[in-house]
Amino acid sequence: MLETQLAHWGILPVVAIESASDASPLAEALSSADLPIAEITLRTDGAIHAITQLTKREQFIVGAGTVHSVEQAKQVADAGVAFVVTPGFNPKTVSWCLQHSLPIFPGVSSPTDLEMALDFGINVVKFFPAEQLGGVNMLKALHGPYSNVRFIPTGGISLTNLREYLSLPSVIACGGSWMARQDWIRKGRFDEIQRVSTQAVQERRQ
Ligand code: 3PG
Repeated sequence: MLETQLAHWGILPVVAIESASDASPLAEALSSADLPIAEITLRTDGAIHAITQLTKREQFIVGAGTVHSVEQAKQVADAGVAFVVTPGFNPKTVSWCLQHSLPIFPGVSSPTDLEMALDFGINVVKFFPAEQLGGVNMLKALHGPYSNVRFIPTGGISLTNLREYLSLPSVIACGGSWMARQDWIRKGRFDEIQRVSTQAVQERRQ
């Protein structure tokens, strides 16, 4: 099950990839770091092509991020993604994904958003933008009334605060772009991606 896999990896690389030709080296760098999973954000022209390349790979889990509409959800479903992540809670996109059995982790930023998610039967959500919303303290406060919800905090997380987030029982995994930065991909610095991803995986395991 996807949630079990997410909890196993504990880290979700959030990636903006411009050229589909970078998809394979990216997957290899992440897989070499023992982190064979990525959320590819729909923020670049090449995102869908990159997703199509990545979903062909066995042993690599590909999700789509920054999905803002039903149209985009359909596109990434056709490209074969394993899951969808949205920055905010869009009831239309959520409904479409649920109707089509496509796992979705919608973004929430407040108790009101959480109530909506629970109404849709969703109890694993993205918490975005995590640091700006109060980070670990906010998640601790939300855990009281929403002890059955699990979070994927994303936004402002890096090696310096990863462990603090992962120590919370409500956190299933942490998302972030720090281990596969867009400028590294642009410059072909897949060695750097592998190095920092390895560090993240080690931090997660400690
Ligand atoms: C996202 O889309 O989830 C965020 O842009 C990732 O946030 P980060 O760049 O601060 O890790």
